[in-house]
Amino acid sequence: MKIAVLPGDGIGPEIIAEAVRVLKAIGLQFEMEEAPVGGAGYRAKGHPLPESTLALCKASDAILFGAVGDFSLDTLPRDLRPEQAILGLRKELNLFANFRPAIVYPELVQASSLKPEVVAGLDILIIRELTGDIYFGKPRGIQTLANGEREGFDTMRYSESEIRRVAHVGFEAARKRNKRLCSVDKANVLDTMQLWREIVIEVGKEYPDVALEHMYVDNAAMQLLKNPKQFDVIVTGNMFGDILSDEASMLTGSIGMLPSASLNEKGFGLYEPIHGSAPDIAGKGIANPLATILSAAMMLRYSFNLAEPADRIEAAVKKVLASGIRTGDIAEPGQKKASTKEMGDAVLAAL
Ligand code: IPM
Ligand code: MG
Repeated sequence: MKIAVLPGDGIGPEIIAEAVRVLKAIGLQFEMEEAPVGGAGYRAKGHPLPESTLALCKASDAILFGAVGDFSLDTLPRDLRPEQAILGLRKELNLFANFRPAIVYPELVQASSLKPEVVAGLDILIIRELTGDIYFGKPRGIQTLANGEREGFDTMRYSESEIRRVAHVGFEAARKRNKRLCSVDKANVLDTMQLWREIVIEVGKEYPDVALEHMYVDNAAMQLLKNPKQFDVIVTGNMFGDILSDEASMLTGSIGMLPSASLNEKGFGLYEPIHGSAPDIAGKGIANPLATILSAAMMLRYSFNLAEPADRIEAAVKKVLASGIRTGDIAEPGQKKASTKEMGDAVLAAL
């Protein structure tokens, strides 16, 4: 079992260090190899996704990813910016199905900015398509018009097969949960999304046991705040899923709590917290490592079929939360704030 470990930028190395300690502590023989990515990749090898890093990923059974993003490199041409590392990995490895669960732990109900009764017991799963849409559609660019003014443009595109395969992932996931799938689109305005809806309805005929609903993305953004517990599984495109999953994270109290899995057709996966590199707190040792630790648990479950140790890690996280240990992002006013390492220590002790 070989794991490519890509810490990346900002708080990436700090949170990955804790997840690696947890993986080492569960008593399984993993081979773990680190490689630079994002701004760190650019600084070490001149490219956000160095060839050697991509080769390591391809030779591994799973990828544990920290975060990328570095303001000081934002003036580089787009293809050299840190974010291109994660976009490149998703595309190169065909990681089209992105699982972003949002679960409210009973102990953290108060950490949400929403009323406890709105979020208590919340357990939803957002499945975001990850390799298509306006993120990758061509043509794109910035061009100069005849009148001398510049114009920026990107293209939203989805082929039938791209929609169909992620729809299947959505229905399969709903089948394993509460059998409700909400497909989020903007079919009232965008042709791409009209096709999205058509294909999802078609795929739905193969899943008569799953209740399918459709929602426009603007309404979905509102419903997530108004009554998030109405959802079970949400399936949506790349850009809408990016936005809605950040929104959903706030229902749970902190974006520092949410893990994710990005899988290809063969079940090969990249596991990462859904948050970014948080340059404002990088190097301070105060970031919440739980999203990354929970991502490692997802890796055990999905890529290695190791449900028991995954359960153990998740149970350890719950125990730590129940014992009142909090990093700054989930602490209540006046509560003592644990460092990244103290949080890792606590999870190890609970394990
Ligand atoms: C995410 C991030 C990325 C995205 C960035 C870092 C390119 O926001 O994983 O949600 O937009 O997909
Ligand atoms: Mg995002």
